[in-house]
Amino acid sequence: MSDTKKITRRSQAWFGRQDRDGFIYRSWVKNRGIPHDQFDGRPVIGICNTYSELTPCNSHFRALAEQVKIGVWEAGGFPLEFPVMSLGETLLRPTAMLFRNLASMDVEESIRANPLDGVVLLMGCDKTTPALLMGAASVDVPTIGVSGGPMLNGKYRGGELGSGTGVWQMSEEVRGGKMTQEEFFEAESCMHRSHGHCMTMGTASTMASMVEALGMSLPGNAAIPAVDARRNVLARNSGRRIVEMVQEDFVMSKILTRAAFENAIRVNAAIGGSTNAVIHLLAIAGRIGVNLNLADWDDIGQHLPCLLNLQPSGKYLMEDFYYAGGLPAVIRELESVIDKGALSANGQTLWDNCKEAPNWNRDVIHAFDAPFKPAAGIAVLHGNLCPDGAVIKPSAATPALLKHTGRAVVFENSDDLHKRIDDEDLDVDETCVLVLKNCGPKGYPGMGEAGNMPLPPKVLRKGVTDMVRVSDARMSGTAYGTVVLHVTPEAAAGGPLALVQNGDMVELDVEARKLHLHVSDEELERRRANWKAPEPPMKRGWTKLYIDHVQQANLGADLDFLVGKSGAGIPKDNH
Ligand code: FES
Repeated sequence: MSDTKKITRRSQAWFGRQDRDGFIYRSWVKNRGIPHDQFDGRPVIGICNTYSELTPCNSHFRALAEQVKIGVWEAGGFPLEFPVMSLGETLLRPTAMLFRNLASMDVEESIRANPLDGVVLLMGCDKTTPALLMGAASVDVPTIGVSGGPMLNGKYRGGELGSGTGVWQMSEEVRGGKMTQEEFFEAESCMHRSHGHCMTMGTASTMASMVEALGMSLPGNAAIPAVDARRNVLARNSGRRIVEMVQEDFVMSKILTRAAFENAIRVNAAIGGSTNAVIHLLAIAGRIGVNLNLADWDDIGQHLPCLLNLQPSGKYLMEDFYYAGGLPAVIRELESVIDKGALSANGQTLWDNCKEAPNWNRDVIHAFDAPFKPAAGIAVLHGNLCPDGAVIKPSAATPALLKHTGRAVVFENSDDLHKRIDDEDLDVDETCVLVLKNCGPKGYPGMGEAGNMPLPPKVLRKGVTDMVRVSDARMSGTAYGTVVLHVTPEAAAGGPLALVQNGDMVELDVEARKLHLHVSDEELERRRANWKAPEPPMKRGWTKLYIDHVQQANLGADLDFLVGKSGAGIPKDNH
């Protein structure tokens, strides 16, 4: 249990004042009918809401916030809801990732500048979860996460249809002539038929699982469907619990320890989680002050098995996962490897929360000693093509391609890829390695999810479904394939990736953790002398600030000046 001690509430520096400023702080809040006794020193709880109709995955968050408020009131707190920048994965261009750090700044400053003693984070679509955790970590008040929950399973023509994963599959079928355009359109309405986020084990489901595995939520947070009444119960109980957390001074850094991040890496392997979690967890650790490295992902997680038979690595979807027992049932299976000392938001250890969790369907959640896939964590590659690392998710790859040497077919950027990939004259076959440049943090900018490049139609028509692909991009968590991602340093920062030319031989050997370009050092130096950095697409505003300060993927792609925290100190008055 966390410490219980008498603390001075931040909010009393506003609402507890008897002077002119106290009048101002209280009087305007009273304008919607708040009784005077709400300012008597009870915990003031911020509800940080990423509701937006431009973020379809979070469009039910008004209702969810009301449930949190009821819980806060029931526990004797005073809830105050506030909006922050929301990041809709599907609509934002060029990529929601360009704005993750911007949203985190909004969250951080909104918490610190306001009379808040504790915060409930409402998060759903991919980037809202890391953005809110990063921002809150830089303040470090008592904090609890509530995810929006996954959509109900997609249904199409009597079968299951998974978010994202089904899009990638069907678009390749259309390009290969196996599906009509009309059938493709029809599937749009079948895939997303309820509130919630993507119901595959994509980035949103992965990050909701990370919230629970880190201990930042109540048990069950990851998998309860968005429209299941029990999601509302979780929100209400979280509202109750945050009031206690304030009373216990149970700040975020007591939960987000090194042990918590190690557990999250283990859980990511066990669920077959998204490669995007690597970048987000490194960034969150950087904010809270935990020393976490890219190598930790391989050392701690790679040898662990995947227990979860969910798309994109497997067959089922998030609704099935919840009915099978949800994340607590997975964590119970990890008994031999989990750190049993890591605390969670309810004050119990993560292990205590999960040690008796039932498993209702062994085909969805496999046993640790009879896993769905062995050694399924993220593998970290090194070599002359990625001196600071690159990642691959072996569980989503074709086993036969995990050791492969092929001729590079190079695309200078994503525009070049889209322009030429369908060209019947493209000199490519299934033994080649597709190489994509300038899609990293600075190059895209924002590090686009372009890493799972579409295959050339003439290869698809042979029935080939996978090729080795290498880039400095990310990949949607719903995607799959033998795809090497996050090559660091990125091409736009002058990494060796920028120097690859058509016809170079690229060697991938995942077992040896090797990504090697078979070109001599002398030749690479000759090419480097002729290399010019690409022109940034924008020279002002947020994009300029981002390009000037973003760190590489192996460090979490946070801005250099945002790493660390400034704490919850109380700013001076306005007058
Ligand atoms: Fe929002 Fe997938 S688009 S979670």
